[in-house]
Amino acid sequence: MTDPQIVLTERVQQALAHAFGAEHADADPLIRPSQFADFQANVAMSLAKRLRRAPREVAEAIRAELSDFPGTVEVSGPGFLNITLDDGWIAAEAQRMLDDPRLGVGTVTPSQTVVIDYSAPNAAKEMHVGHLRTTIVGDALARLHEHVGNTVIRQNHLGDWGTPFGMLIEHLLDIGEEAAVGQLEAGMGTEFYQAARAKFDGDEAFKQRARVRVTTLQSGDPDTLRLWHVFMDATVRYFNKVYSRLGVTLTDADLAGESMYNPMLERTCADLEASGTAELSEGALCVFPPGFTGSDDKPLPLIIRKSDGGYGYATTDMAAIRYRVHDLKAGRILYVVGADQALHFRMVFAAARQAGWLPDDVSAEHVQIGMMLGKDGRRFKTRSGESIKLTDLLDEAVERATAAIADRGYDAATQAEIARAVGMGAVKYADLSVSHDSEYVFDFDRMLGFTGNTGPYMQYATARIRSIFRKAGMEPAEAQGAITPGEPAERALSLHLLGFGELVSQVAAQSEPHRLCAFLFETASLFSTFYEQCPVLRTDVAPELRASRLALCSLTLRTLETGLDLLGVPVPERM
Ligand code: ARG
Repeated sequence: MTDPQIVLTERVQQALAHAFGAEHADADPLIRPSQFADFQANVAMSLAKRLRRAPREVAEAIRAELSDFPGTVEVSGPGFLNITLDDGWIAAEAQRMLDDPRLGVGTVTPSQTVVIDYSAPNAAKEMHVGHLRTTIVGDALARLHEHVGNTVIRQNHLGDWGTPFGMLIEHLLDIGEEAAVGQLEAGMGTEFYQAARAKFDGDEAFKQRARVRVTTLQSGDPDTLRLWHVFMDATVRYFNKVYSRLGVTLTDADLAGESMYNPMLERTCADLEASGTAELSEGALCVFPPGFTGSDDKPLPLIIRKSDGGYGYATTDMAAIRYRVHDLKAGRILYVVGADQALHFRMVFAAARQAGWLPDDVSAEHVQIGMMLGKDGRRFKTRSGESIKLTDLLDEAVERATAAIADRGYDAATQAEIARAVGMGAVKYADLSVSHDSEYVFDFDRMLGFTGNTGPYMQYATARIRSIFRKAGMEPAEAQGAITPGEPAERALSLHLLGFGELVSQVAAQSEPHRLCAFLFETASLFSTFYEQCPVLRTDVAPELRASRLALCSLTLRTLETGLDLLGVPVPERM
């Protein structure tokens, strides 16, 4: 473990235990970055209070225990411990990181099976920007968990079943399979749905057909199922197009739509009823998980079978959670879904615990995704109030990126490739860089900006380092020179990079990709300062110093590229 903050925490804890007894071995030494040193430890003040001793005296006692510490420790003010690490220690740790293909990122032991439910667009409606965000955040979490050594099972819980399919299939028959497939593959699911809906509302005969069709679909009529497949296959082809443009790792193998659970629903209800977890209430089968009450103070039901015998969203989720624990052997289940479904998931988790389907050692977590807002502060829509088609949105991102890099003199193919990476990177990074549960304003101008915590800025930072190596006439991997961070900017960059491994582990464990973005942004900023203040290729730089600085450039580049890759943000080699 090279993260200086962790190393210091452990060292100070040992010192505390030595000086004041083993019961202090787990105390938080409160290590923080400092203005006056690399770090400060603030523990002496709070400990002094508990021990009824003078804080400076306590600080001195800790300092005495740190005599063999690879750095200097000074007591200042009321009892701060100011800690400055030796250049030699930083150099050795940076070297270790440079030599480590994993850049200090550990693997978790024991490894877990993490089921990640994400993307999950609805076939009967449209794939909207909200699903874009669940897709992008979920995919980053999947990549992160795989990287730290967990077994990841992706589950794309498509909305592919339910009563709307009656009218959708009838509409498909009306316009003909070929036309329908064409529309759906082109991402016109919303228009398709609206056309079906308009007929359903205005045409009594159509409505009747749609109703009958729902019944034949549910009864498993082969012809109807075939039509449902025609509809679904075309829709999934569109989703896959969006995924592949975005570089999202979901494939057909990860499809686990609502329909997959149909054969399990009857048993789901029967078992919940038999175990007494569910009870009949006004004809509906309901679970009343403890602790949930409505505004009228009455217990809130999770309805798993409606009074007409129909199953719903909650039934499927109860079947799914049992399947994920029992069949997929999940140790942890992440639901990357809109924040507006928080109550639903809390109730599903509680009901599953109650049923004994979700044992204590399996965690189920709703990774809440905040709403995407337009610049007007309302739910993101087009000017005419329609929701925005994802392919149009991605087209626009690429168009704008193309304009932004137009004057750089690349041939058409290179330019197209860069524009694609910049456009997708901008959209993805914007989704990831704010905490997943906060709302955020979708703003092309901001996300495509080349300054600030944006995708293009991060991509540009890597391209800039690559161009240093092109000028040096070598590959980044060839820079193996001994890192000797002498200048303050070199030290600051090196110290920061050493925190990468620990940060990645935390980001995976806590589902917080935005903290990885913040780390990478800080990396790029520190690199900028370093590059301004520390010449690398200038002819008057001594060979060893040049080798050291090139190695630091290489380490920075690998850290940025690894980090961006974990986020799923593409990294063009030039920009
Ligand atoms: N299709 C749902 C929606 O668009 C999201 C499904 C999330 N996953 C789940 N297991 N309920 O709102």
